[in-house]
Amino acid sequence: MTKKLIAPSLLAADFGNLQRDIEMVNLSEADWFHIDIMDGVFVPNISYGMPVLEAIKKHAKKTIDVHLMIIDPDRYIKEFSNLGADYLTVHFEACTHLHRTLQVIKAEGMKAGVAINPHTNVDLLKDVINDIDLVLVMSVNPGFGGQSFIENTYKKISQLKELIVNSNSDTLIEIDGGVSDKNAAQLCKAGADVLVAGSFVFKAENQIETIQNLRQLANS
Ligand code: DX5
Ligand code: ZN
Repeated sequence: MTKKLIAPSLLAADFGNLQRDIEMVNLSEADWFHIDIMDGVFVPNISYGMPVLEAIKKHAKKTIDVHLMIIDPDRYIKEFSNLGADYLTVHFEACTHLHRTLQVIKAEGMKAGVAINPHTNVDLLKDVINDIDLVLVMSVNPGFGGQSFIENTYKKISQLKELIVNSNSDTLIEIDGGVSDKNAAQLCKAGADVLVAGSFVFKAENQIETIQNLRQLANS
């Protein structure tokens, strides 16, 4: 069995102590940094942008996983590559020419991800699944941290896993939203490869231990 990965979302970090929180993730058993970019148009919230990612990149020592919740993401692909993103994930619902967008992301030297909202059926990815390095399944409606996990996600993971296996693809499945110790094991059993966790990690008293615990559950 391949190792399941944990990606703490810095959206829930303390921005006044961002370097401290980044160093915590560096020291922990976490695998990736999950970076949420919101434009206030695709989602009803604005998070942070390029200068903050540039500052994060100075200290972060692990894979940078950027989740773009923005319209027309093609405008910024090159810039995210220059900033050091390893994975660049765009929303299915925000791309008119998704196939082209994925090729551009890869041509810029990044891994290409596609995120799907809770209402988006996994079958819509059928014709591009072999072009995708990662599918991010939203298990809440995107825009905010701290929301409740949507139970229908398990069914979507199974359907997606079937699509990936049938396509002989090695696409990773990432789950984002409401992840905690309550659902980590079941999500990974259903087929998830990467778990994003924001509030569950950063609101915890002992964040290092919380990440360790999540990783154990994911790999149980
Ligand atoms: C929500 C973001 C998530 C968010 C998850 O739109 O994509 O990455 O940070 O936060 P929690 O884990 O608190 O649901
Ligand atoms: Zn995210």
